Amino acid sequence: MQKQIVPASSVEGSISLPGDKSISHRYAMLASIADGATKIHNYSTGADCHSTLGCVRALGIEVEGGGTEFTVHGRGLDGLRQPAADLDAGNSGSTIRMLSGILAAQPFRSRIFGDESLSRRPMQRIMTPLAQMGARIDARDGKFPPLEIHGGRLRPIHYDLPVPSAQVKTCVLFAGLFAEGETSVGEPVRSRDHSEIALREFGAEVTAAGGLIAITGRPKLEARELFVPSDLSSAAFFIAAALMLPGSRLTISGVGLNPTRSALLDFLAGMGARIRIAGIESRNGELVGEILVEHSELRGGKISGGLTAALIDEIPVLAVLGAATEQGLEIRDAQELRIKETDRIRTVVDNLKLMGVAAEELPHGMIIPGRQKFRAAQVDSHGDHRIAMAFAVAGLSAAGTTAIEGAEAASVSFPEFWDTLAAIVR
Ligand code: S3P
Repeated sequence: MQKQIVPASSVEGSISLPGDKSISHRYAMLASIADGATKIHNYSTGADCHSTLGCVRALGIEVEGGGTEFTVHGRGLDGLRQPAADLDAGNSGSTIRMLSGILAAQPFRSRIFGDESLSRRPMQRIMTPLAQMGARIDARDGKFPPLEIHGGRLRPIHYDLPVPSAQVKTCVLFAGLFAEGETSVGEPVRSRDHSEIALREFGAEVTAAGGLIAITGRPKLEARELFVPSDLSSAAFFIAAALMLPGSRLTISGVGLNPTRSALLDFLAGMGARIRIAGIESRNGELVGEILVEHSELRGGKISGGLTAALIDEIPVLAVLGAATEQGLEIRDAQELRIKETDRIRTVVDNLKLMGVAAEELPHGMIIPGRQKFRAAQVDSHGDHRIAMAFAVAGLSAAGTTAIEGAEAASVSFPEFWDTLAAIVR
C-alpha cells in the first residue's frame, strides 16, 4: 500500500494513542500463567501484540474481547497446553524472545516462527541463557527462527547480558518464574523495566538494584485488572511532527512515562523542545501523563552509549527531526539498529538521501547535518513500521507530495497512525 503525504503547515489538536506495545505483550503473557481472569484495558491494537494473543490462545488459554479490551483466562504456572500447530510470532521480536522464556519451561515441545523479517533476526541471545537453564532449543542455522523448543524443568542461573536488551532480560526473568530458587540478570545499561513492574503487579517477588534484577521462582501469580498506558514510542512521531512544523501545538493524553522509556522527552528538552508534562499518575506501577508539545527551534545533539539504548525505538524519527535542527544529530553505538525489523541505519539513511537530505552512514550509527530541507520523493518502509511512520513525518515538511511505499507496515504497532495523522494536520 502506498500513502501520499502532502505538506502540512502545522499539526494541532488533542489525540490519544493505542496502548503501549511493550507493556501489552508482557500483560498478555503473564496473564496466561496467572490464576484467574485478568482484564486488560487499552491493549495495543498493533499486529505484534495480536501475534502474542494468538500464541497465548494456541497454548490453550481462553482470551475474550476485542478492540482494546481483553480478558485473559489464566490457568496458572502449569496450565499451558501443547499447541496443536506451530506458534506464529509474525513480525514480533518481543513475542518470540519473551515467550520463549515461558515455552522453555513447559513439559512439551513447541515450535515458534515468524515472518521474513523476524526469520532474519538473531535468537542466540535468548538461546544461550535458556540453554544454561537446561532448555534445548534448535534454530535454523543455529541462530534464526523458527525455534524448536524442547521445554522442561529449568534451573535458576545468574546471567550477565552481553548486550542491553529488555527482551532478553524478560526472557530470562520469565523462565526464572518456573525455576526453583533465584534467577538473576545483570544489565550493563538499564533497559526498560516493564517486566519487573508487571511481574510485581502479578505478585512475583522481584528485586532490582545496581543493575542486578532477581526473581524468586515458582510464585503464585494472581489475575489482575490492568490498564495499558498509551505508547510513548508511537507518540514520538507526533511529537516530532509538532516540533518541526511552525505554529504546531499538540496534546497527547494518557501516555506511558516510565523513566526507562522517557529519555526521549529529556533528550528533546535538552535540545530546546517546548514539552510539558501534566497530570502524572501511577497506574499498575507505570507512570502515565499528558504531553503538551509546541513547535520549537532545536539545537541538535549527540546520542551515544546508554542514551542510544534508551532511545533505540525512537531513532528513526529522531534522525528525521535531526535534519531540521540547528546543528544536526550524531548517533553512535547503535549497532542494535542494524538487527531491528530492518537494518534501520541503512533504511533511515537511504530514505533521507532519497528526500534530498545529506546523511552519513557509520558502521554503528549515522551523522545527519542540520538546517536541511526535505524534498518530496518516493520512499520505502521496507516493511518496517517505524520507518513508514518516521518518513510520513518527514513528508509533512517536504515541498511537494511524498509517497510512502509499504505504508501498511505501520499497523505492526499502530494501525490508526494514518487516520490520527490526518486528523491533526493543518
Ligand atoms: C522491547 C525492547 C527493545 C525494543 C523493542 C521492544 C521490549 O528491544 O527495541 O521494540 O518490549 O522489551 P531489545 O530488547 O532488542 O533492545
